Amino acid sequence: MIQRPRGTRDFTPQEMETRRYFENLFRREAELHGFGEIATPIFEHAELFTLKSGPNIIDEMYAFEDKGGRQIALRPELTAPSMRFFVNELTNFPRPLKIFYYGQCFRYERPQSGRYREFFQFGAELIGAPNPESDAEVIGLAADLIRRSGLANYNIRIGHIGVLRGKLSSGGVVPEEAAPILQKLDKRLYDEARPLMQEAGLSPATIDDIVSTTQIIGPPDLLERHSGEAIDHLKQVFAILRDYGITNVEVDLGVVRGLDYYTGIVFEVDAPCLGAEKQVCGGGSYSLTELFGGEKVFSTGFAIGFDRILLAIEKEGSTPSRNRLSAYVVPTSENMRHKAFAIVGMLRKEGVGADVDLMRRSVGKNLKYADAVGARHVIIVGEKENAQGSVTVRDLASGEQKLVRHSDLVQALK
Ligand code: HAM
Repeated sequence: MIQRPRGTRDFTPQEMETRRYFENLFRREAELHGFGEIATPIFEHAELFTLKSGPNIIDEMYAFEDKGGRQIALRPELTAPSMRFFVNELTNFPRPLKIFYYGQCFRYERPQSGRYREFFQFGAELIGAPNPESDAEVIGLAADLIRRSGLANYNIRIGHIGVLRGKLSSGGVVPEEAAPILQKLDKRLYDEARPLMQEAGLSPATIDDIVSTTQIIGPPDLLERHSGEAIDHLKQVFAILRDYGITNVEVDLGVVRGLDYYTGIVFEVDAPCLGAEKQVCGGGSYSLTELFGGEKVFSTGFAIGFDRILLAIEKEGSTPSRNRLSAYVVPTSENMRHKAFAIVGMLRKEGVGADVDLMRRSVGKNLKYADAVGARHVIIVGEKENAQGSVTVRDLASGEQKLVRHSDLVQALK
């Protein structure tokens, strides 16, 4: 038997129904916030990602040479493609330009629950300005999407990469040395970060200050005890979020993020029920356009790990159950088969989800099948009832049956 590749998944019709439901819920919410959907290719020139995304992403990239000798990569994320698209074609659009996307990404990671080699992101980017308004608008959308998903337990932690970068650079650490230190601090691997900071020439007092800064986590008023440009910016972001009515957010000055392109605010959302792979969303502000041949434009964005959020909702037991199949139509005899098809055709035209016996089964077996596929009603097309212009409608949940005239059927089912 040929198996699917490691780290990939197939989805059943039931799973796809749930996935489409949440996809569309997220689309509607993003549109409510004034964002518009874009789509970009699944593969890009590898260079798009090697330029700035950082070593983590590059190590995990699905890259190959195509028949024309070009270095191609399956996209590991959608921020760099969005910015490439912007530089190529969207620079004349009014700003801020507010876009969102949904699609699969590929990373050669060690697969486990919540971590796949092919996974889906729902994300958004606001292109235009580096001010707190933009950041709050983007964090606000992420917060509203997650609230709308029905997930109950999660934490939104917001920091500013400028705080740690500022401390490193005023201690004389150059950006190339700072990147590996930040990666260790991101994972809170202090025993590994400390020797790197010593090698970079930082004093013990500065190292302690940096480590304790990454441990500033809690309500936004924690910021009152600190000062500086990055802290002031963060305070304004929290103030606007409060205006928007978003108060379930906290400060975390230890948020660094795994990608290298962030320059300003950075934020993450965790769903603790997921254990090791608990991060369901990550984002921040950055500027990539100048690397891709455009003018420098600041942006803020995020991506929700669509698979992880669905996993978390399922773990919490709050996946909504839906079935669009309202009616399953069963003829009681050979003579009634064409009438059954006519009823299904009519129901479908009227927008009622309907299906019909295709296996020439007995009424009893058809009732079992209708139950197994989750139909809400069975419509029994019998000769006697048909002669009176009626069918029997059976509610599968309650077992109740009633006679309904053909002309009233759509109304009765709706
Ligand atoms: P990221 O943190 O690398 O950020 O990915 C965003 C989210 O995708 C993660 O929080 C996680 O939920 C999900 N994710 C990542 N890798 C996997 C995987 N192997 N399996 C399942 N889910 C995964 C970005 O990609 C940035 N482009 C976000 C962004 C947009 N920043 C600014 N704009």
